[in-house]
Amino acid sequence: MSDSWDDYADDWDTDPDVVEYSKKAFDSLTKFTSLEGKNVLDFGCGTGQLTEKVARVASSVVAIDPSPKMIEVLKNKNIHNVNSLSCEISRDSINHPIFEPGFDLIIASSVCAFVPDYEKTLSELKLLLKEGGTFVQWDWKRANEDGDFGFTEDMIKSAYTNVGLSLVRVTEEFSLASEKGTMHVLMGIACNA
Ligand SMILES: C[S@@+](CC[C@H](N)C(=O)[O-])C[C@H]1O[C@@H](n2cnc3c(N)ncnc32)[C@H](O)[C@@H]1O
Repeated sequence: MSDSWDDYADDWDTDPDVVEYSKKAFDSLTKFTSLEGKNVLDFGCGTGQLTEKVARVASSVVAIDPSPKMIEVLKNKNIHNVNSLSCEISRDSINHPIFEPGFDLIIASSVCAFVPDYEKTLSELKLLLKEGGTFVQWDWKRANEDGDFGFTEDMIKSAYTNVGLSLVRVTEEFSLASEKGTMHVLMGIACNA
């Protein structure tokens, strides 16, 4: 596997696992909440597999990703209500005008397990949520605390508590068949109450 997400950008949209993951994530999102009229931040958007679906219903979407090539693929889709930026989230970058005036909903699909400091990222994203806004993430489920990838339900719940987000729920929402067997996906939902 390459160290650079840029290397995956050209083929991301034709990877059947990526397509299925984003479809299932979108279905679980719309089962949970209506997107109509919402201003959404898609954190770690990649080429915008989920961004595109959300933008068809939401008022607007800001989509960010540190990979310039992923963002280039998304920009070339020319989606009228999507504004995208290649950047990492930090105390400095959250002051960029693209994030004003904050978001009703922040989504993070298969991203949080890749950030260097999950709780620090959550606390920065929390600053971008409007009061009463919702944060939703999807990540591979880790079998136990000693696993090497993804999260357990408890890891997500305690991170929300530690950064002051109110837990709505963490549930095993869907699965994908892979060469390694069936992989389960957790959906974590928290509110900036
Ligand atoms: C598995 S892909 C998911 C992409 C997209 N959300 C989707 O569902 O197709 C992980 C994405 O996380 C991005 N990423 C990696 N490190 C990140 C970080 N520190 N902050 C935000 N995004 C990051 C990568 O560039 C990549 O686009």
